[in-house]
Amino acid sequence: MSKKLGVGIIGCGGIANAKHMPNLLKIDNVEVIGVCDLFQPERAVELIRKFGLKSCSVYENYYELLKNTEIESIHVCTPNESHAPITIDALNAGKNVMCEKPMAMNVEQAQTMADTAKRTGKKLTICANNRFRPDSWYLKEICTQGMLGHIYYAKAHAVRRRGVPTWGNFMNIESQGGGPMIDSGTHALDLALWMMDNYEPQMVLGKTYNYLGKTTSPANPYGNWDAEKYTVEDSGFGMIIMKNGTTINLESSWALNIIDEKTAKVTLCGIKAGADMDNGLTINGEMNGRLYEQKIILEPQKIPFYGTQEIFGPELEIRLWVDALLNDKEPVVKPEQMVVVAKIIQALYESDISNKPIYFE
Ligand SMILES: NC(=O)c1ccc[n+]([C@@H]2O[C@H](COP(=O)([O-])OP(=O)(O)OC[C@H]3O[C@@H](n4cnc5c(N)ncnc54)[C@H](O)[C@@H]3O)[C@@H](O)[C@H]2O)c1
Repeated sequence: MSKKLGVGIIGCGGIANAKHMPNLLKIDNVEVIGVCDLFQPERAVELIRKFGLKSCSVYENYYELLKNTEIESIHVCTPNESHAPITIDALNAGKNVMCEKPMAMNVEQAQTMADTAKRTGKKLTICANNRFRPDSWYLKEICTQGMLGHIYYAKAHAVRRRGVPTWGNFMNIESQGGGPMIDSGTHALDLALWMMDNYEPQMVLGKTYNYLGKTTSPANPYGNWDAEKYTVEDSGFGMIIMKNGTTINLESSWALNIIDEKTAKVTLCGIKAGADMDNGLTINGEMNGRLYEQKIILEPQKIPFYGTQEIFGPELEIRLWVDALLNDKEPVVKPEQMVVVAKIIQALYESDISNKPIYFE
């Protein structure tokens, strides 16, 4: 049997329970052997109980967890403010790290994380999990094959009509670094850059709003919030011009009066064809003097008795990460790519504050 990978989880809240644990447990050669939750230690105890972990220890703080030499890989599932310190300490302790998105609170932290991974020779990835959806995975493939031609305009959508995450620290500027723009905007922007394989921004112009955050919203699926404690933006919009002339429009919101709701999706406009992620994935263009729209069937073709088993989503994300560690491969989501995402998001916030476009060197 191949070697088992010893895993430690830091932060035992929503995402650790919903994504990391269930998908780690689907992989035979992985064992979660240490968990820690600094502010709600009962969550670490509950995680062990809920997932029936046999030989897993609860640690009071992550420094103690990092001393366990059996743990080779750390999953950082804490609020944004501690992504960088925990990741850097874990890498320096000789661990590989999968860190939740956004990479960090700012680009300096993100760069230090990437540099530390390089210096220590350890692997680091960030949870840009929307890349692993069937529509994104397919679209990336056709972009790589050049089927859309040169992409000169893209929209990065991260818009919810009502979807303010009212649990944890999401509405708190101090611990999150921002609202929807750094939160779900990170996902959409990551998709746009990855599809185009373009990580060279030239300038950005950003604007944020906090009108609905300062009101009440009984329609919010995650429940109402205390407007006094809502200190991040409720919406953030930005225009990003890349060095090759491509324009990306980023729309992000947790509460916006709009019907066209789209989260973690992209629209790509290339010279040969375009792509939209409405109702799955549709490619559009012109053929023989007529416009066409071609819907991609994303479900695999089923053969009776031999059902095709395709894995996508968070399971694929975690499986490929484990595979990268056990078989010494490059992770799909590379730290240097996410540093650029952090750089653009930070510049959009700076542009908002200064009321000026921000130019990169
Ligand atoms: N990839 C995605 O699509 C996705 C979805 C949801 C959340 N997230 C990200 O996951 C992170 C956590 O979100 P969540 O919804 O699980 O939050 P949460 O509040 O439910 O859980 C976070 C947990 O971390 C613990 N914690 C805080 N600081 C700690 C520290 N220094 N050491 C150990 N434990 C600590 C808290 O006590 C809490 O239990 C955020 O950065 C968020 O952006 C990503």
